[in-house]
Amino acid sequence: MTTSVTREDALSLLKKYNKEPFHLLHAYTVEGVMRWYAKEMGYAEEEEYWALTGLLHDVDFEVYPEEHCKKAPELLAEIDAGEDMIHSVCSHGYGLCCDIEPVHPMEKILFAADELTGLIGAAARMRPSKSVMDMEVSSLKKKFKDKRFAAGCSRDVIRQGAEKLGWELDELFSKTIEAMKSCEAEVARQMEEV
Ligand SMILES: [Fe+2]
Repeated sequence: MTTSVTREDALSLLKKYNKEPFHLLHAYTVEGVMRWYAKEMGYAEEEEYWALTGLLHDVDFEVYPEEHCKKAPELLAEIDAGEDMIHSVCSHGYGLCCDIEPVHPMEKILFAADELTGLIGAAARMRPSKSVMDMEVSSLKKKFKDKRFAAGCSRDVIRQGAEKLGWELDELFSKTIEAMKSCEAEVARQMEEV
């Protein structure tokens, strides 16, 4: 899967529909995580597709929360995102806001990692370091089991995501922590400009 969309176009579309710093933080984080996973999973040549799909996956959420994943195709058409990217973006809401199933490995990773980055981010903010750099899988597992912690991050979706990938939760946790380490500094740099 490849895309002719440039990062510049993707970013301007994202910023046109997203003003909340938290939403931009999430978009940059998922972008960086997907970039890491593309290389990790042997799809280095598709890195831009994975990354830009991650950047744009929630593009419609801030303005159209009731039509999440339904409004996205129309917004993505503004930058000629193409059918593949539209499918990938919509499939991250499978079972929640649409019935487009994640098929490609990239789509399964997006489905699994999207919700998990929220949990890891919340756990990182609780740490003295305020960082994911010194986070261990064991401490994330404790946060995962504590249902009151970051209750908005659906444990069911994270479990389903691991299942779709055929991975144990531990594998999804350790890889996604690594992915977030890889982009923490770059995400922070971009947030300084927000
Ligand atoms: Fe998301």
